Amino acid sequence: MTAPKTWTIRHATLADLDALVAIEAECFPADEAASRESLQARLQSYPECFWLLTDDGAIASFINGFATDRPDLTDDMYDDATQHDPHGQWQMIFGVDTAPLYQHHGYASMLMQQVIEDSRERGRKGLVLTCKDRLVGFYERFGYKDEGISESTHGNVIWHQMRLTF
Ligand SMILES: CC(C)(COP(=O)(O)OP(=O)(O)OC[C@H]1O[C@@H](n2cnc3c(N)ncnc32)[C@H](O)[C@@H]1OP(=O)(O)O)[C@@H](O)C(=O)NCCC(=O)NCCS
Repeated sequence: MTAPKTWTIRHATLADLDALVAIEAECFPADEAASRESLQARLQSYPECFWLLTDDGAIASFINGFATDRPDLTDDMYDDATQHDPHGQWQMIFGVDTAPLYQHHGYASMLMQQVIEDSRERGRKGLVLTCKDRLVGFYERFGYKDEGISESTHGNVIWHQMRLTF
């Protein structure tokens, strides 16, 4: 007998703020993590561009980012939620987080598949994210192509820009 499915994918509301701040702090060093203020502004501006995977009601994993016609992901975007354009061509991905307790269960992958499907249905041209060297292979599995080193200096780290074009 297979175990019953305990996970669900949904969008966010402001009521999720505390949990998302806590997961972000667990997943990223302080100078890379989005601040509470930034996450709050994002939630107020584009809750439909947050995807949450919950397991037995608890948030296990989340992906967020706004939509824009600008093709490249730049550092000014992270803290400026006003740039969100609901009809933007590109779905930017600012964060992919799975709480440590829930990692290695395929949750980020399931969530990413949903984000890709929804972005396609919303008529976007594709998705753009930046990631560290070690995760290039992870994102390539979904069809993202490595465009090389991004101009981002976020957290004083070298980032690759990756794009999935429909
Ligand atoms: C990266 C992260 C989101 C993955 O979340 P997760 O829910 O554990 O991911 P999944 O279980 O869906 O996928 C992991 C699988 O992807 C594959 N994978 C991981 N890295 C890979 C790589 N570089 N190349 C190819 N495949 C890779 C492996 O099969 C891995 O399986 P394993 O965990 O059993 O080893 C999570 O580790 C995290 O939140 N890290 C901290 C924050 C972070 O770095 N986020 C990404 C910012 S760009």
